[in-house]
Amino acid sequence: MISGSSESKEQTFSNRVLKWTKKMSSMATVCGSTDQLNNIAPSDSFEGMVEDKPEGKRVPSRGYHNTSKGMKVTKASSNDSYDHDHHTLATATTATASFSENEHDDGSYMDLSKRSERRAAKPYSTHSFPAGKHTFTVDTRYSMNRVVGSGAYGVVVSSHDSRAAEDVAIKMVPKAFNDEVDAKRILREIKLLKHFKHDNIIQIVDMMPPNARYLEDYHDIYMVTDLMETDLHRIIYSKQKLSIEHVQYFAYQLVRGLKYIHSADVIHRDLKPSNLLVNSNCDLKICDFGLARGIHPAHGEDASGTMLLTEYVVTRWYRAPEIMLACHEYSKPVDVWSVGCIFAELIQRKPYFPGDDYIDQLTIISKKLGKPSDSDLDFVTSEKAKRFMRKLPSDPAPPLSSQFPGTPSNALDLMRKMLSIHPRKRIPVEDALAHPFFAQLHSADDEPVAEAPFDFSFEKEKLHRIRLQELIWQEAGHFRPSCLPVAPRRDGLREV
Ligand SMILES: Nc1ncnc2c1ncn2[C@@H]1O[C@H](COP(=O)(O)OP(=O)(O)OP(=O)(O)O)[C@@H](O)[C@H]1O
Ligand SMILES: [Mg+2]
Repeated sequence: MISGSSESKEQTFSNRVLKWTKKMSSMATVCGSTDQLNNIAPSDSFEGMVEDKPEGKRVPSRGYHNTSKGMKVTKASSNDSYDHDHHTLATATTATASFSENEHDDGSYMDLSKRSERRAAKPYSTHSFPAGKHTFTVDTRYSMNRVVGSGAYGVVVSSHDSRAAEDVAIKMVPKAFNDEVDAKRILREIKLLKHFKHDNIIQIVDMMPPNARYLEDYHDIYMVTDLMETDLHRIIYSKQKLSIEHVQYFAYQLVRGLKYIHSADVIHRDLKPSNLLVNSNCDLKICDFGLARGIHPAHGEDASGTMLLTEYVVTRWYRAPEIMLACHEYSKPVDVWSVGCIFAELIQRKPYFPGDDYIDQLTIISKKLGKPSDSDLDFVTSEKAKRFMRKLPSDPAPPLSSQFPGTPSNALDLMRKMLSIHPRKRIPVEDALAHPFFAQLHSADDEPVAEAPFDFSFEKEKLHRIRLQELIWQEAGHFRPSCLPVAPRRDGLREV
């Protein structure tokens, strides 16, 4: 149970939304209609972005990298060239699942939300339709609208849910168990999304029951979530006008969501514009929790509240200096750094620290923010890294007011505090919410925290392919009890 989900809090929040809507009425006008959002165009400046390889083996292939395949940078829409012709119900074929039958009684079960209850209430059958290079096989209640995104791990479609009479997003991860690290990432994301209940975090509302007679034959994973109209990357690189009120509202919602995530002792670790989903009314929700980690003492935190981990993989441009300098010792401030980078990118409409490699990244940071003093390098444990930093040019950085001309000083003050090179001097989320830049939006009573930390202990056991298949099947069973118990193994063993 999450504190933010109580009725009284929800009540408070809807009042709050009303308040925001009033304040932001001019922004909503500027943000404009869905059509406007759908037709935004890419900026050339983003073409060169290279993401570091995530911890799994799949290579990121975001739409905006993929111009050679005709994938537009824009949100998929009726104008999208991405195999759009195939994305119609007319091409959908009704399929008989190879699973025991294609009608399932999901009867009584569901505790996620009323929407989920409605989803689980009746029997279902499956049908298939192409989506990009993949074939979706889903409950017939879900029909295909269009592809809305693709990432390193899968393809996301907008779909109409005929039973709930609303549009949803379905993310499909094909052949999810071919790589155990990838599958673990998906398991983590499902569990986190189930745990979180917050207006600024995307919510999972359904999963497709596995379509397999034996556990080994479970391959493709489908997650149904709230549908959003686009993501912040597409907004930033569109022709959409962005006022400082837009920046304020987006940044506020991001920090509000982050406060909740951090209160669950979770670090997102991959905050970047494409992982922030937005609607034309400027609502923002954080997505993509595949790289999230815990900081709970039981899960590797040391006395200073930081973690020592061997790998770190967040997209370089948003990566905090301590990750590059301090031998992978990091905690919640890494997310605040990413927020600071996104904040700056929203204003300048280009990445603030677009390093070509990690040396270049640190050089740009030092050039724009000033070389840190020796005392500000006390968090750096590696002597080699310290030597590198000391050798950087000492030219004073231009003041932020000249790097961001016309930007209000309280915005720059907050940005500077988020971009403190020293992680322990970086502003924590609670203080950021109370900063004068957010004065019009901030309400301490309406920035909920999680009731309990998220439990990452499931990651402690060695998760082999078959065990991951079992665990994710169980997660699907949470939404679709009729697919439980988990199917047997081919050799008849139930133990995995
Ligand atoms: N619920 C949603 N509503 C609308 N669009 C979405 C939704 N979920 C994802 N998208 C779009 O799909 C893209 C990829 O989604 P997501 O980040 O979850 O996938 P991923 O494969 O983990 O991506 P990455 O390449 O960052 O690892 C997002 O950047 C966004 O544009
Ligand atoms: Mg993503």
